[in-house]
Amino acid sequence: MRHLSASPREPRGRSRSDTVLVMDSELSIQVSLSADPVPPERLTEILADPGFGLHFSDHMFLAEWTPDRGWHDARVTPYAPLSLDPATAVLHYAQEIFEGMKAYRHRDGSVWTFRPEENAARMVRSSQRMALPVLPEAAFVASVDALVRTDERWVPEPTGEKSLYLRPFMFASEKFLGVRPAKHVTYLVIASPAGAYFAKGLRPVSIWLSEEYSRAGVGGTGAAKTGGNYASSLLPHREAIENGCDQVAFLDTVERRWVEELGGMNLYYVYDDGTIVTPALSGSILQGITRASILELAGKLGHQVEERQVAVEEWRDGVGSGRITEVFACGTAAVVTPVGTLKWRGGEVSSGEDAGPVTRQIREALVDIQYGRAEDTFGWMHKVL
Ligand code: PLP
Ligand code: COI
Repeated sequence: MRHLSASPREPRGRSRSDTVLVMDSELSIQVSLSADPVPPERLTEILADPGFGLHFSDHMFLAEWTPDRGWHDARVTPYAPLSLDPATAVLHYAQEIFEGMKAYRHRDGSVWTFRPEENAARMVRSSQRMALPVLPEAAFVASVDALVRTDERWVPEPTGEKSLYLRPFMFASEKFLGVRPAKHVTYLVIASPAGAYFAKGLRPVSIWLSEEYSRAGVGGTGAAKTGGNYASSLLPHREAIENGCDQVAFLDTVERRWVEELGGMNLYYVYDDGTIVTPALSGSILQGITRASILELAGKLGHQVEERQVAVEEWRDGVGSGRITEVFACGTAAVVTPVGTLKWRGGEVSSGEDAGPVTRQIREALVDIQYGRAEDTFGWMHKVL
């Protein structure tokens, strides 16, 4: 395997082989169990207060792709560092994509994921934009299921809305400095127990309006979930923190007028007549799965729902005049988070110190489905265990 440049340390421990039917062919997943899992007492401590993205489960999923062999060597191995050659393509040209999703434990002990086929479909779209190989949707779902089944003890009890955050990702692992799509690609899934993404809980977050920097432009990679979009958001994010804000809002790059999204979340506005509006997908906004689910859910809850362009003046003036009564952000990590203040160079408006009633209603309806406390009339939940 000449191109293989990403490899974990040799697994130690017991092995078994699971075969999963993917489309018409079989994907064989070799499972090597860790000989050194986190001890139960330490795991209890971690799950009591996991934070976000700090702790990682005992195992990870890996598979590799080459043009001649396609996807191969699918395996669950003990979680371990990767060994990468300094010339590995992703380190230079950022050919990389990722997903974010969660596994939820229900009160009866069963474990579920939320619309995993939507994450799989988005990863296919991201891979097409980033010239990476397509991972079949069934293989994506099977990879996530295999890791969650192996690390089931890492899925927290449902108290305090904890979950196991799952991070599937794919990168150019070929050792080559020429600029072209890589001929060796590695796909992994890692898992991290998660509490609230924002330490403040349901308290509204404050938003800094980035007027100088953009996240993504027309014809760029904004609709793909690729690391570079996040890298470019970090300087404006730092500017937000320096200005006392938690997150950044980005505008379109042509007119610098239309609200797009936050660095890692989509946006929603609630109007005084009960209408709920989210910025229309412009080609440079990430097509959030939470955003899409809220469009359906809010409609079912009796709200008039609109996807349309929202000008930044409409946000400022609407909050000022009371026409916009609530603003919230949404995403897998952040779930539904109220937005309080919008701040820019020279001014600010505030839409409240607390989560508004519509934000609370939508948040509750969504998490009730995710945690199995409400009937899943949409067929969104996927049973893993
Ligand atoms: N927008 C960006 C830039 C994101 O990173 C995310 C998070 O995944 C979202 C929106 C929300 O997407 P989803 O609801 O699928 O998590
Ligand atoms: C997610 O919500 O899953 C994301 O990927 C966003 C990231 C900011 C944690």
